[in-house]
Formats: sequence, C-alpha cells, structure tokens
Amino acid sequence: MAKPTPSLMDTIVSLCKRRGFVFQASEIYGGIGNTYDYGPLGVELKRRVKDAWWDRTVTRRSDVVGLDSAILQNPRVWEASGHLSNFTDPLIDCKTCKGRFRADKLEDAHCLLKPSLHPGECDGELTEPRAFNLMFKTNVGAVESSSSVVYLRPETAQGIFLNFLNVLNSSRMKPPFGIAQIGKSFRNEITPGNFVFRMREFEQAEMEFFVPPDENERWYEFWRRERFSWYVDLGIREEKLRLRDHDQAELAHYSTATCDVEYEYPFGWGELEGIACRTDYDLKQHSAASGTNLVYFDPQTKEHYTPYVIEPAGGIDRMALTFLIDAYAEEPLENETRTVLRFHPEIAPITVAVFPLVKKDGMPEKAHEIEDELRRARFTTFYDEKAAIGRRYRRQDEVGTPWCVTVDGDTLKEDVVTVRERDSMQQARVPVKELAAYLVEARAGWGRPAATRG
Ligand code: GAP
Repeated sequence: MAKPTPSLMDTIVSLCKRRGFVFQASEIYGGIGNTYDYGPLGVELKRRVKDAWWDRTVTRRSDVVGLDSAILQNPRVWEASGHLSNFTDPLIDCKTCKGRFRADKLEDAHCLLKPSLHPGECDGELTEPRAFNLMFKTNVGAVESSSSVVYLRPETAQGIFLNFLNVLNSSRMKPPFGIAQIGKSFRNEITPGNFVFRMREFEQAEMEFFVPPDENERWYEFWRRERFSWYVDLGIREEKLRLRDHDQAELAHYSTATCDVEYEYPFGWGELEGIACRTDYDLKQHSAASGTNLVYFDPQTKEHYTPYVIEPAGGIDRMALTFLIDAYAEEPLENETRTVLRFHPEIAPITVAVFPLVKKDGMPEKAHEIEDELRRARFTTFYDEKAAIGRRYRRQDEVGTPWCVTVDGDTLKEDVVTVRERDSMQQARVPVKELAAYLVEARAGWGRPAATRG
C-alpha cells in the first residue's frame, strides 16, 4: 500500500484558500467547526461536478427523472425512516481531558491534553459509549415546544421516497426507473473532517432507482459499475479508486448490501460514494406510518408490488475534493516547479483564459472581444493582462484551466490566435473565427494519456 502523504492535504487546503476555491466559514469570527464556504473558483468547480452528475444520471437517461424536495419535512418522516432511532454515532467522553470522541473512530482522534496520543492510550478515564443522534433539531413557528420540533434532513433520499407516488402519477414512469436529486443535507458530525471531506452541512447527489424485486441484483451490479466508470470517465485515476463491499456489521439499518466507491486520499482510503440495496424498506415504512400505500400497480400482470430500491448516493463536496486532489501535480519546468491541476475540461472551473501578449497596440481590446465571443458561446473564461505571459500560464495551470488563448501582433493582422494546451503545453495557431469550434472539439476529444498524469 502506498505511504500516506498528509502534506499533500495541507498543500491542497492552502491552494484552495489562496486561489479562491474554499474558505473557512465565519473565518473573521474564528471559524465554525467542519463548515466551509466556496469561493469564486470553488463554486464553479462544484457546479461542474453537479452538472456532470446530472447530465449522466438524468439528462442522458430516459429512465430517470429529477426532483427537488424540501429540507424540512414532517418529523414523522424521520421516525418512519428509522433515522430517529438508528442514525447515531457511538460517543464516549474522557473524564480527564473532557474530550468527546466517536468510539468507533478512536484511531482518528487525539487526546486534548496529549495530542500525540489517541484516547484510551493516555491516562484519561473513558465513559461507556452512548448513542448520539446526528440529526440537527430546530423548531417551526413562533412557539418552541415538543410539537414544533423539526429536523434538518440528514439525507436527500427520504424526500424521494415521499414523492414516489407523485412522480409515478405525474410522469408515466414505471419500474425500473429512478428519481434523482441534488441538495443540502445536515449532520451533526463529531469527528473533525479532513477539510470538506466531512462537514456538518454538505451537498448530496442521490438517486433512488425503483426496480421489480426480481431485478434487484442486476441493477445493483449495473449501478456499481456505472458509478465507478463516471469517475474514471471524468479523469480520476483508476488505480486510486476501488469498490469495497460492506461487511454485515457495517450495513446501514435499511440496507441488505452496500458497496462504496473509495478513493485513496492523502489520509488513506475513504468513502467517496455508496451504492446501496435499500430493498422495499423505505416505501414499506412510509406506507405503514402514513397510511398511504406506496406501491406500483403493474397493468400487465395486474399486480400491486412494492419496488426494491438501488441507491447510488454521493457527496458533491467529497467529489469536488477528490477531483482536486487527483488533479494536483507538481512538475519540474526549466528553473521552477510548475503546479498544475489536471482537471478534465468538463470539471475545470475556468475553461479558457484569454491574454493580450502586451497591454498596448489594440491587443487588450481584441482579447476582450474574443473573450466576449467565447462567453456567448457558453465557455467560462478569464481575462488576464498582468505579468509576463509565462507567469500568466502558471497562474492558469495552478487552477486547472485547460486552454489559454493569446492575442499577439499577428492576431490583429491575420485574425489568428495562439492556443496553448495545459498538460502538453503545446501551442497551436487557430483562426479566431474557428476558435469556439476548435475548443468544443478539443473538449469532446479530451483524454489524458497515463504518462502525463501527476
Ligand atoms: N442516502 C444514503 C446516504 O446518505 P451516506 O453514505 O450516509 O448515505 C452518502 O452518504 C454520501 O454523502 C457519502 O458517500 C459522502 O460522499 C457524502 N457524505 C456523507 N456524510 C458527509 C459529510 N458529513 N460531509 C460531506 N459529505 C458527506
């Protein structure tokens, strides 16, 4: 197994702050644990990740439709789903240092008095584990009472189950079919979280795929492969990914089989996404608790049945972090080290940067004109006229911009620009009127040969 490289994580965190990907939330007040804000480049990165997920999971498929359900639902939802009683972490307290730790993750925790030791390795006396519910509780309305309690959803999935019949009746879908949604979820996580890997407020991309029970195995296999391939197709190195099956003890209360797509992070292998067989658990629970029968009537067999569910569930923040880590490379270049994020163009926050070679002779005006045209062609662009051209390339390499376009003297005479590609650093002369088409083609044909990977 490769050696963990924790310093890469520090490098990524510092790059994220310096270049405007991710900031500590409430930083000027000293921050708030496990909570982050996304800056101008980070928000573009997340948007690309969400678009790529939605495109592959919903837009390109005729058997999946979308949904956007509310964060606040009737509290009985969480009773029926099992989250009120089962969505817990085992916590222990140290009577000496007063620290509170996850009993099943002591190896990730540090004694508050002797941080070089894990709890239990020091002299501190630990309590017995207690179940701690991860859901955030709040109140609706003006009166705070037990009847006004609501929960911030800990997963987006339940909103999908609640709308199973609405979607069925309004969209003419029939099993096998899926309902997908992307949205915020909230968990009162106790363990510190390796930057945006584990947060209290995060975004999930989940899809519940409803199948006839006898097709369960086939679709589980399909979605395992499909979700693994999505990451590879968007440039994540295959050798850094694996599918790991959960053993019986690990399974969530609703699942009979689950596997994780794991990535080898600088802090070790970790879950990037889970694909779970949820059986008919949720639909049956909500049918029983609500009194509304969440079943499908098959007009061919004239039978009612409760579909089984295969659920691919990933975290958008974790995906964005994984794309960042996997794309990061440092390489020697003449007398310096080039830092480059080798993002797939579908994921890169900026697709094309436009530079005038010098700040005179009409070059800035022409560069602005070209940038405007590219914006209208729906590219995300960036204009830069400061510093030597080499420095400008380095700045774009560091944030993963696949192409830089330079306007020079010939552009004004012959209407031709220089397009420089990030990974090979090769340059091509391209007529301005063909530029958008050139970039569209280059993006569609993108593929990274193994030898150029960081
Ligand atoms: N509906 C199933 C479900 O929520 P999960 O494994 O608890 O399953 C799915 O969550 C994904 O959501 C995880 O694989 C991870 O990518 C992301 N996720 C979960 N907790 C997270 C947290 N505290 N911070 C960031 N992402 C998280």
